[in-house]
Amino acid sequence: MTELKRTLIETYLPVDEISKEAKKEKTGRAPTFEMHFWWTRKPLITARAAVLGSMLPADFDSQEFKKLLGLEHVKTTGKRAHNYDIHAERLEQLKLDYKKVWCKAPTIVDPFAGGGSIPFEAMRVGVDAVANDYNPLAHLIQRATIEYPMKYGKKLLNDVKDGLEWIFLETKNEMEQYYPQHDGKDVSAYIWAWSVKCPKCGLDTPLVGQWWLFKKADKNNAKKVDDNIFINPTVENQKILLEIKTGDCLIEGTCSDATGKCLNPDCGVTISRESMMYQADELPGAFQSWKDYRDYLIESSPMEEAHRERLKKRFSKQPEVDSIHRQQCRQVLLCDYENNLPVNTQAMKKEELRAKWWNVL
Ligand SMILES: C[S@@+](CC[C@H](N)C(=O)[O-])C[C@H]1O[C@@H](n2cnc3c(N)ncnc32)[C@H](O)[C@@H]1O
Ligand SMILES: [Zn+2]
Repeated sequence: MTELKRTLIETYLPVDEISKEAKKEKTGRAPTFEMHFWWTRKPLITARAAVLGSMLPADFDSQEFKKLLGLEHVKTTGKRAHNYDIHAERLEQLKLDYKKVWCKAPTIVDPFAGGGSIPFEAMRVGVDAVANDYNPLAHLIQRATIEYPMKYGKKLLNDVKDGLEWIFLETKNEMEQYYPQHDGKDVSAYIWAWSVKCPKCGLDTPLVGQWWLFKKADKNNAKKVDDNIFINPTVENQKILLEIKTGDCLIEGTCSDATGKCLNPDCGVTISRESMMYQADELPGAFQSWKDYRDYLIESSPMEEAHRERLKKRFSKQPEVDSIHRQQCRQVLLCDYENNLPVNTQAMKKEELRAKWWNVL
């Protein structure tokens, strides 16, 4: 019977150093993390440590192990460990080390691979990987992170860029009417607030806890207080005017302890929780189904007839959100890549490109 040899992870693991670097990696974000959000995705350095540590023999040099994890790279370059690529020649030597324990180059199997950190690092340290997850989104993330870049190379990058540009332009076309420019300039942020009608004077009062936009110092720090920025609301002829001011904000918010306060200084009535709840029942959130909500949204939003018709058509094509089937997700998202159809989007005219992406949706 073959005796199993001990692996490095059974005798040595620089947990403190890996842990510190993992914390930094989570804040700095490795590129794979930007692909798509995934819950509990593990840092690449911990995945590499687990994979390498499980393949190398127990007597492997500990300093060399740290170097392979990228910890030396951090010290010499100030960059994150996950940026460290092991050179191809070194990978070939490492495969001989793996064989000392495993007889032949091992294959890493991750049956619960989630965002794919483990199979991704397995491939980076020169071994085959098999990844699985019962969640179709995780499955897609894994393929898009690990398989497609290898299979399609730079073409994939260009197609994704084109696709994203298309989504950006379509969204801009549809949405810019709701986010108009201000004094001919783009607005960097809109601030939204629920509002309730004052039961006494009828003013639509926004419900905000406070009016601060930026608060660097409190009033005791006289030097810095001018840096503070806040919204100054005033009411004229039952219309609310909002002005941005600097300095100390003495205006109270309009809601606390589940009650509201009318902004009109001539009224100032307290709006009860019951009154707010009654009005909330009239809001879209109270709809029973997504279909009721979207019909309400289309009928009640101020928009041109043509745009209304287009939205109706678009919504009618969409299945109910909850019932999007895995197969449909795959059809939509994998389209040409799945069949390996060469589509040269670079050479396509803008209209053709639009049509292609519309079909995908
Ligand atoms: C903690 S996450 C894995 C995180 C992963 N190591 C990473 O770095 O992203 C656990 C994963 O197991 C998957 N999972 C749970 N039960 C499963 C099952 N019975 N079969 C396949 N996958 C499963 C979940 O969908 C989830 O993506
Ligand atoms: Zn009022």
